Amino acid sequence: MFRKTVYGFTAIAVAVAGIGLALANHSPVSSAAAPARAESVHVPATYDSMDTSHDGMVTEKEAMAAMPNLNFKAADTNGDGQLDRVEFLDLQEKIANGTWTNAVPKKEFVKQIKGYDEDPVDVVTKAPKGTLKNPYDSANITVVAEGYQQFLNHGCNACHGGNGGGGMCPPLNNGVWIYGPSDDTLFRLVSLGSKKLQEAGYSRVNKETPALMPQQGGTTLTKAGDLWKIITWIDSMNMKKGN
Ligand code: HEC
Repeated sequence: MFRKTVYGFTAIAVAVAGIGLALANHSPVSSAAAPARAESVHVPATYDSMDTSHDGMVTEKEAMAAMPNLNFKAADTNGDGQLDRVEFLDLQEKIANGTWTNAVPKKEFVKQIKGYDEDPVDVVTKAPKGTLKNPYDSANITVVAEGYQQFLNHGCNACHGGNGGGGMCPPLNNGVWIYGPSDDTLFRLVSLGSKKLQEAGYSRVNKETPALMPQQGGTTLTKAGDLWKIITWIDSMNMKKGN
């Protein structure tokens, strides 16, 4: 058990170090590839004037031809290799009000899965029993690190302890699962809380604490994707909890 717990935290440390490195690599000060200075970027008045191929999209090449001092990666916030209209307006506005820095913004959380923003309670209501599967892999250390961050963001640590090792409420890293270990059951328990889960026909198969967990879905936890990341982190501490 100890080894498994350590694994979870090693993963987080590695991921955090990775983010630090990525930022260092993209810093406009230290990177030779980054263009000179943000204040020397001159943005054309219109988007269409940069679109020399007239296909409705500004490619990196077209953007760089119009704005040689732009750090394209910083402007291409969704990372699709093109400067779209929203990104252009954002750039234009930031240059105008002096807040453009040419620095690559901090990396967004891992690529969003389908239905990421859905309310977990809606997801549970729609999906037949036993059909929910975690779209993330617990070997993905970035998702594991983000899952731990979400666990803290959503205040789960108040009851389950800062490291998920339990406190007033059951530990999440001891391999003992009150209603069973499956992704489907854990997702439902956290979304609905113990009372509604039991009303839906689930009963305890293991004893850990007599307390009921309050519903989290739709209250503090409004995104299914956040919850899957938390479950991925929980998985990583238990290696394979079985589905
Ligand atoms: C107010 C305290 C409280 C908060 C906040 C809370 N939990 Fe719980 N949690 C509990 C209790 C109590 C149980 C045991 C439920 C039962 O026995 O019916 C539990 C059970 C669980 C379990 C199953 C544990 C097992 O051993 O089977 C998981 C997973 C879980 N919680 C995750 C979360 C997550 C993720 C969050 C944050 C989004 C969270 N909890 C927030 C009190 C809480």
